[in-house]
Amino acid sequence: MSVIPLQQHGFNTSRLILGCMSFGGGWNSDPITEDDLQKAEKGLDAALSIGITMLDHANIYTRGKAEAVFGKIFKEKPGLREQLVVQSKCGIRFQEGDIPGRYDFSKEHIVRSVEDSLQRLQTDYLDIVLLHRPDPLMEPDEVAEAFGKLKAEGKVRAFGVSNMSASQIRFLQQSLSEKLVVNQLEMSLSHLHWLDQGVHVNQNAGTTVSFAEGLMEYCQMERIQLQAWGPLSQGRFTGRAVEQEPEHVQRTAALVEQMAREKETTPESIVLGWLMRHPAGIQPIIGTANVNRILACQDAEQQAKNMTREEWYALYVCARGHHLP
Ligand SMILES: NC(=O)c1ccc[n+]([C@@H]2O[C@H](COP(=O)([O-])OP(=O)(O)OC[C@H]3O[C@@H](n4cnc5c(N)ncnc54)[C@H](OP(=O)(O)O)[C@@H]3O)[C@@H](O)[C@H]2O)c1
Repeated sequence: MSVIPLQQHGFNTSRLILGCMSFGGGWNSDPITEDDLQKAEKGLDAALSIGITMLDHANIYTRGKAEAVFGKIFKEKPGLREQLVVQSKCGIRFQEGDIPGRYDFSKEHIVRSVEDSLQRLQTDYLDIVLLHRPDPLMEPDEVAEAFGKLKAEGKVRAFGVSNMSASQIRFLQQSLSEKLVVNQLEMSLSHLHWLDQGVHVNQNAGTTVSFAEGLMEYCQMERIQLQAWGPLSQGRFTGRAVEQEPEHVQRTAALVEQMAREKETTPESIVLGWLMRHPAGIQPIIGTANVNRILACQDAEQQAKNMTREEWYALYVCARGHHLP
């Protein structure tokens, strides 16, 4: 399989990323427990054992405790952090009293948020920092100042975005001295707008598609690494009960299971392999904290290599629930 964009930017990373949103305990201010620590240790060990070398964090995950629990692991295991590509995000702020939840791309927030993440993760640097969700009040020159300061101080190696359109990326990029390297989006067999936008050009059905036009092509042309959040569709096609789901979801789950059986692999590797078969070189961010489910992702890259065009379309069309136009 060809070199993915992030590797072209000098990051020595695995194709799969371990998403850390489910680690650290609940989304509350309860302290991290021994169980939380063990869960993260076991999850990370399982990920490392199948060659995963990249972590996806955010300052907000379990209200900072996801980063903090990995910080404890890094402290316990000297040298481990340097073997990994660690990414985190900033820009979402929780409700505080009467002030509602909001986005904040001010210089002050970006810099403080990254410094807090470094402290929680007990590390001197983050490999990549992403802006989590587009802030309508974004001023690119101000973001550039924050990025420039963090880069000059050696606190961040590179920057990216999440959930942004091509125009938003272009708008931000024109103020930055370095290229944005990542855009993270929801992409999976159950969330298909990223593909449907392309196949519905000039079709009435396209009016219900919610994906920024040309984003896939733009990221590929600009060598921006596309990362997929929600790639396991929260288990819909890999063993979660689907009796209450629409018929096409049930049929897709059955097709995934049949393919996995025939190819002597796991349903997780089929759904991830399907995403990775796309020529953009997508990096799926697996969000499971369950050791067996992490291990079940091991064969994904091989499945991507082996997946025929016919198999890929069989999964896409079945998951759409409609024939292609
Ligand atoms: N940029 C963004 O806006 C954004 C948004 C959301 C997430 N993310 C990132 O993307 C990562 C993945 O996202 P995600 O967690 O939504 O996606 P996911 O990988 O599709 O789903 C993982 C979730 O589904 C559950 N699950 C998986 N297989 C299952 C099965 N067979 N039966 C029952 N439950 C099952 C997992 O529970 P178990 O732990 O029990 O397996 C976990 O809660 C996150 O960790 C985070 O790093 C980014």
